[in-house]
Amino acid sequence: MPLPVIADVDTGVDDALALLFLASHPDIDLRAVTCVAGNASLAQVTQNTLDVLAVAGSDAPVAAGSQRPLIEPARDAGSYHGANGIGNLHLPPSPRTAEPVHATELLRREIETSAGPVTVLSLAPLTNIALLLRLYPHLASQIARIVVMGGSSSAGNASAVAEFNVWHDPEAAQIVLSSSVPTTVYPLDVFNRVVASETQISQLRDAATPRARLAASLLDYQVTLADLPDDITSGAKLGDAGTAVFLVAPEHIGTETWPVEVELNAGFSRGQTVVDRRHRPGEAEEHGLVTPVSRSDIALTVDGPAVAGVFVDALLRAEPVP
Ligand code: RIB
Ligand code: CA
Repeated sequence: MPLPVIADVDTGVDDALALLFLASHPDIDLRAVTCVAGNASLAQVTQNTLDVLAVAGSDAPVAAGSQRPLIEPARDAGSYHGANGIGNLHLPPSPRTAEPVHATELLRREIETSAGPVTVLSLAPLTNIALLLRLYPHLASQIARIVVMGGSSSAGNASAVAEFNVWHDPEAAQIVLSSSVPTTVYPLDVFNRVVASETQISQLRDAATPRARLAASLLDYQVTLADLPDDITSGAKLGDAGTAVFLVAPEHIGTETWPVEVELNAGFSRGQTVVDRRHRPGEAEEHGLVTPVSRSDIALTVDGPAVAGVFVDALLRAEPVP
């Protein structure tokens, strides 16, 4: 039985890779895609999402959500994802338009009408998901799990210590991570280590389907960013797509369960995610300075080549769009 999934995205080059995978893997039932400002403006993210889904032949409904974080102003990712947020690629415009409702309404509708619990895959700032949980708290019991690409137990990317999705809207991240919904965090510690090889990119480039060739073009753009880990000398990061692969191949990713706290105070550490690996409370708790937060499963190890292989296989096996 395919896994019912709603993806929340800020398409973005790696969100696009994730969408291609979600629309291609037979064990995923992509119910809807909701959009939030992040890598690019809300309007650009929404159009990019529609255009990528059209290439993959997906008719999953799309809705635009928050154009800015709960507290902070919108600060996009600059030129990191290209001028148009999708690696400066020019895709055929989708024949579809977004649903005439806010993302939280599409999320509510799809979750409430689903026969079973839905998995929410968050690949972007968590503003839409936080608003959903505040607007419709009863839905928490109908969400199987929220899988969040976000945070870091080590270095950041948006700042020295904060990962972009959490840094963009720290309050939203805290609302989601402290909710009653089971949550898996896919932080930069694993995000940065899932890399498609040059051979795999060539396989996609030579494939018969537009979706595989689009994946190759997106990965070619990733190569230009030249931000691989020091011990990986070639290839392209899958980014968000690795989080999507986790949904169907969790065996390639090692998780531990710890409290994950978001730094909300202003200053250089705002948006940092702190993983509390202690086995007993400390003096900070004893003196009432901090209060325990709910625990999340957090991915800390990954077989990067295996995850990349699952991604490439799904794209190569997918049937051409009729
Ligand atoms: O920090 C990486 C994350 O921020 C990815 O989801 C990327 O698409 C951006 O949204
Ligand atoms: Ca993203």
